[in-house]
Amino acid sequence: MTIIWDESLSINIYEIDKQHEKLISLVSDLHSAFMQNKHSGHLNKDILQSMLDFTKEHFLYEERYMEKICYPDILFHKVFHSRFLKKITIYKEKIQKRKLFLNRDMMIELMEWLQHHIKTEDKKITLFEWSQLKL
Ligand SMILES: [Fe+2]
Repeated sequence: MTIIWDESLSINIYEIDKQHEKLISLVSDLHSAFMQNKHSGHLNKDILQSMLDFTKEHFLYEERYMEKICYPDILFHKVFHSRFLKKITIYKEKIQKRKLFLNRDMMIELMEWLQHHIKTEDKKITLFEWSQLKL
């Protein structure tokens, strides 16, 4: 099981959709690397680092977007982002120190969190924006 971008993940905000697509492809790269090396435990750290770097960049973009449209639940949303980043950073550090190998549960957690977050929290941003449109 891997993760692929499809229309059900679209939040109808062009730039954010493009970033989600890229993020999902980075997670999918990580998944492929994991599947290829799951028996040896070896993992190319650059793949994990690229995913983490882009996640930070994307969250920042999304947070600025929420500020720009005066999204009322921004603080709540930022907490989801920071908790997720903290968790992934801890995983990355443990993997770097070889205290932990990337495992199946971590991969599933990562993919499920991402899909759930986009489909629930990120979609609320669009719904709010639409609700503000004056017809
Ligand atoms: Fe988000």
